[in-house]
Amino acid sequence: MSIETPALHPDANWWRQAAVYQIYPRSFADANRDGLGDLPGVTSRMGYLSELGIDAIWLSPFYPSALADGGYDVDDHRNVDPRLGSLADFDAMVASAHAADIRIIVDIVPNHSSNRHVWFQEALASAPGSAARARYHFLDGLGDDGARPPSDWPSHFGGGAWTRVVEQAGPNAGKPGQWYLHLFAPEQPDFNWDHPEVRADFHTTLRFWADRGVDGFRVDVAHALVKDMSLPLRSKPALAVLVDDGTDPLFDRDAVHEVFAGWRAVLNEYNPPRTAVAEAWVPFTDRRLKYAQPTGLGQAFNFDLLQAPFVAAEFRAIVQKCLAEAAGSGASSTWVFSNHDVIRHPSRYALPDGSTEDDLEAWLLADGEAPAADLARGLRRARAATLFMLGLPGSAYLYQGEELGLFEVADLPQASLQDPTWFRTKHKVKGRDGCRVPLPWDATAENFGFGGTPWLPQPAWFADNAVTVQDGVAGSTLELYRVALRWRRKLQCDESLAWLSAPRDTLTHYRRPNGWEVLTNFGDAPTPLPAGVDSATVVLSSGAPWAAGACIPAETTLWLAP
Ligand code: GLC
Repeated sequence: MSIETPALHPDANWWRQAAVYQIYPRSFADANRDGLGDLPGVTSRMGYLSELGIDAIWLSPFYPSALADGGYDVDDHRNVDPRLGSLADFDAMVASAHAADIRIIVDIVPNHSSNRHVWFQEALASAPGSAARARYHFLDGLGDDGARPPSDWPSHFGGGAWTRVVEQAGPNAGKPGQWYLHLFAPEQPDFNWDHPEVRADFHTTLRFWADRGVDGFRVDVAHALVKDMSLPLRSKPALAVLVDDGTDPLFDRDAVHEVFAGWRAVLNEYNPPRTAVAEAWVPFTDRRLKYAQPTGLGQAFNFDLLQAPFVAAEFRAIVQKCLAEAAGSGASSTWVFSNHDVIRHPSRYALPDGSTEDDLEAWLLADGEAPAADLARGLRRARAATLFMLGLPGSAYLYQGEELGLFEVADLPQASLQDPTWFRTKHKVKGRDGCRVPLPWDATAENFGFGGTPWLPQPAWFADNAVTVQDGVAGSTLELYRVALRWRRKLQCDESLAWLSAPRDTLTHYRRPNGWEVLTNFGDAPTPLPAGVDSATVVLSSGAPWAAGACIPAETTLWLAP
């Protein structure tokens, strides 16, 4: 029997072509003015979100946390950080979102807990070999005195993936003892997903939030849960090198899908079934689509567009590949250009063509001063890319602030940086703070209307991007998103598209089954409309307002109504 809950009306397919807006709660809106955004802040801006025209909010973690990794170090998966509100505030936020016809997706972080989680504290206080330790990965070190970590595995934020504890119990109390695994920061010990209590506890967590009316879940590092911990541990000196055939000791192992089949059964207890989207950084192969199967989580992110240069052939090839992948899994595709982990896309596109990931990191480390960024071009391309993407079949994932055309804050003062990457790499990699700076709502208000003194300082140029400056201003990035999201509801139909011939290698041109067309000029020179396209049908341009009979401006997308 399915459970009736206060979720939004029972359209089981609402997610397939939804526009999902990611809120990083600590940086969105600060109702109690303590400098950290909070849940009442989200509720207070529901009118803004509704006017924007989104279908769902994805909330990054709002759980109790010491913020060693911006909230992805979770003390208690079934509560709200008191600095961000209470469970009652959460319920009020859900009710207000649902009243505005907006669904709520919450972030679930199953790979690890924080080191303050009650289970980890229990594990630390217990002796090696105890039941409490078995919920995590504790091992003896190598060498006669156990002083070498159990393997050469690195962690994602720099440094090794093992930390040695001082024993609190047993014959070695007071002495250095076992090591525990953390693929991320030492404050994020990895759970042992072979342990039945860990599996059962996450079913409890899913039901806890689903019972409160949550419509879906975003699943953090979904591909990492199940690991091959058989001894001796295998060597893996670089995390990024993923042997993607199921044999990698840490990532994308076949058994992870048993976990998610169990989750799907829980999610399907509800009416409508709760959705889930996997964050699984695995390459494009048939393996990736398993996360998105209806017997699994149901949808998976692909980060292909996010990683691609602004090049017509690349965008087109990615769309073809991802739509085929989606068809193969039974899910709809996902599209994303920005999130809380990457440099905002107007800045990425502003850097010289051909810039690599390493170049981007070097640019951040140089406080955004070298190489010179062409910001006007970056924003022009970002707006064109967004309109290209919003016309596609599938779910569009947007990140807070991109509707304001925000750039990365590349020159945050070093003393303000909080990303563990900055510390764990000994200041060699700056990390992700530059895309997490609290939003500018009001150009003239204190702290740009965010609330109290923000936990990351806002640059003076945020005034130019504030909501008050763009609201109602035709052609502003905010109005472009609003209009596009409104039109998008009309444009959505069957999840397919047809490519129309676009002879120039700088152009893409596709048509949706209901006749809407999307034309993008990726080149840096204007180009005429393709033969047969009626200039009068253009209803939206990512660039200057459309003038009938014109060429498509450089780096611009047009939407054509049937
Ligand atoms: C995911 C999150 C990222 C976090 C990491 C560890 O990749 O998106 O922000 O640091 O998982 O939880």
